[in-house]
Order: sequence, then C-alpha cells, then structure tokens
Amino acid sequence: MGKLRVGVLASGNGSNLQAIIDSSQAGKIDVEVAVVVSDVADAHALERARRAGIPAVHVPPGRFRTRLTPEAEQRFIEVLEKHGVRVVALAGFMRILHDDFLKRYAGRVLNVHPALLPAFPGLHGQKQALDYGVKWSGATVHFVDAGVDTGPVILQAAVPVMDDDTQETLAARILEQEHRIYPEALGLIAENRIRVDGRLVTSAGENTGARGGGEA
Ligand code: GRF
Repeated sequence: MGKLRVGVLASGNGSNLQAIIDSSQAGKIDVEVAVVVSDVADAHALERARRAGIPAVHVPPGRFRTRLTPEAEQRFIEVLEKHGVRVVALAGFMRILHDDFLKRYAGRVLNVHPALLPAFPGLHGQKQALDYGVKWSGATVHFVDAGVDTGPVILQAAVPVMDDDTQETLAARILEQEHRIYPEALGLIAENRIRVDGRLVTSAGENTGARGGGEA
C-alpha cells in the first residue's frame, strides 16, 4: 500500500500545513500531501506548498463571505479528485463546507482547532479562553461534521494559560501543540489505527496520544 494521499485546504499562514509536510517528508508519518488548495490567492500556505514541490492551487471562493458557493465547492472537489486525495485536512481554512462536500468525503475530513473542544468553538478560540479566564486551554484535532467544530475528537493537547498571556503568547503555545498532534492524527489514520464509534474515537497501537495507548 502506498502513502495516504492527503489534500490540505488552507487560507492563511499554513504553519500546520508546514508541520504536516515536514513530518511526511521526514518519513515520520505514512502520508503524502498530494495537493494544497486555498480560497485565498496569496495565502502563504500556497507558497509553502510550492517550495516543498507540492501542487498548489487557488480556487476563488465565489461571492459569499464565510462559505464557498456550490460552484466553488465543486471546483475544490475536482482538484482534490484529480490529485487522488483520500483524506482532507483543513488547516486554517476559513470557509464552512457544505453537505455535498462532507458527503463526498464522509468521515475523511479533519480540522485543527485552537481550544479544547467543546470549549470555545468558532473564531478566536484563544481570545475566548482568555476572556473566560480558564487556566488551561489547548488544541483539538477532530473530524469535521456539519456543525462548527462539533465533530468527533481525535486528539487533544492541553497547555496552561498564564496570568500575563496575550492572545499572541497563548496562540503560540497552542500552535506548538497543533503542530505536534495534527501530523500525529494523520499518521494514525494512514496506519488505519483510528476507530470511530459515534462520538468516540479510539486509536489502537503504541503510538497513541492522549488516550495513552495499550488497548490493542
Ligand atoms: C490555527 O490556530 C488553527 O487552529 C486555526 O487557524 C490557525 C491556522 O494557523 N484553525 P496556520 O495557518 O496553520 O498557521
């Protein structure tokens, strides 16, 4: 069996994309980033892909602000299909996906969120955590369903919130964990070690994250 072909959708800086590329190119995970697609023409993520020799495609999102038009979404699907993508990883992708897309890739779309879901879904998870005054926050990798950040949790990592944290310092501490657990989650999927039973996601084998492993 070849490597798991992952398509990454990104709208911005693409540091999570970079972490996935680095892990895959270092041979740490059985993943190949097959294509990177962005709704933003000058997203740095596209530049990172090009530099790594990965096809980088801009697809205009259409006239909506937070969604893709159905036509744009079809175009995203076409590009992913053309590159033989099996799993889609959202990495700082700022558009909500419709049912059609999620049906096409049912159970095969992942996202990373900068908070310990179900706390602080939606935009600005770091600011929400600071405003609430929690002492711990973190990062979540989850499957994407039709809601906003509501899908089954795959891996999480916690970080402390410091009294003098700003959004930037907290975001940086959380990003470090995102960069660790996102490639790890994709690696588990590539090795077919993820089981989903309703909301409960378990990972079998030694290389597990928060659940500690051991359950064969
Ligand atoms: C990350 O904090 C991610 O959790 C959120 O958007 C940010 C993307 O960062 N969804 P990057 O583009 O991967 O650097």
